[in-house]
Amino acid sequence: MTAPKLPFTRPSIDEETISAVERLVGPRTRAIMPVHFAGLPVDLDRLQDLAARHRLRVVEDAAHAVGAAFRGRRIGSTGDLICFSFHPNKNMTSGEGGAIVCRDAEEARLIELHRFNGVERTGPDSMEVHFPGMKANLSDIAAAIGVGQLRRLDGFNARRRELVARYFAQWPSGSPLRLPERGDDGHCWHMFCPLLPLERLRITRVEFIRRMADRGIAVGVHYPAIHLFAAYRRLGWREGDFPVAERVGRETVTLPLFPSMTEADVDRVIEAVHDIVAEAAA
Ligand SMILES: Cc1ncc(COP(=O)(O)O)c(C=O)c1O
Repeated sequence: MTAPKLPFTRPSIDEETISAVERLVGPRTRAIMPVHFAGLPVDLDRLQDLAARHRLRVVEDAAHAVGAAFRGRRIGSTGDLICFSFHPNKNMTSGEGGAIVCRDAEEARLIELHRFNGVERTGPDSMEVHFPGMKANLSDIAAAIGVGQLRRLDGFNARRRELVARYFAQWPSGSPLRLPERGDDGHCWHMFCPLLPLERLRITRVEFIRRMADRGIAVGVHYPAIHLFAAYRRLGWREGDFPVAERVGRETVTLPLFPSMTEADVDRVIEAVHDIVAEAAA
């Protein structure tokens, strides 16, 4: 993929977040795993600087950031370990699957071994099995779909940016919903997720989603705060540990955003959201 010249990307990690991450680094910390949530790249310069100071790996969750860029650098073109998803709901898909980018040849070899049963082809008539790896290889069929999608990726993302520009332009100025951070052309807009002003509404988020569905508009939720899932509660995390994530998890709604949408579709979504919110205002 040739990287187009992209303008400066406003980072989504602010000073406070960086110092919060740094405070959490302890003797057992091995890696930092940032998520380029919704396609908005985190401030990789500062995160990598922090990681270098503490000798930590940075494993980027770039599931949402296929085709995104930070300060003009494509996500995946620099960094340590970068993981992309080609799941069907992502900006490009191979049906299922993904890709890991790494900078070290030996590590790439290890990943390849883990990907396919720990098997190494050692010659035309020989193989070695090093350990019980996974069966996580991308099928040839999936790869063929992915190659076709890759050619269209920049077009998909450009259309997503146009639709988001429409969301921002047409969003009523007095709207009580909080809009996502806008970023710039490096943002690949996997999702558009405003926050509902639940404390000012007489309805729950479930009811909001139901009323949108009544108008034929699907609304998702990405994501509830992960520390409150059973898998993390089991490790001791509790309600109140991350109040910002908890609030965002309660209020977030994912509005429709996909390349084949029209401007009129965006306008219809905005109108539906604001009709429902106005009607439910406490
Ligand atoms: C932030 C994030 N990380 C990782 C994944 C996992 O991707 P995959 O389903 O390709 O394993 C997803 C999938 O939805 C995701 O949204």
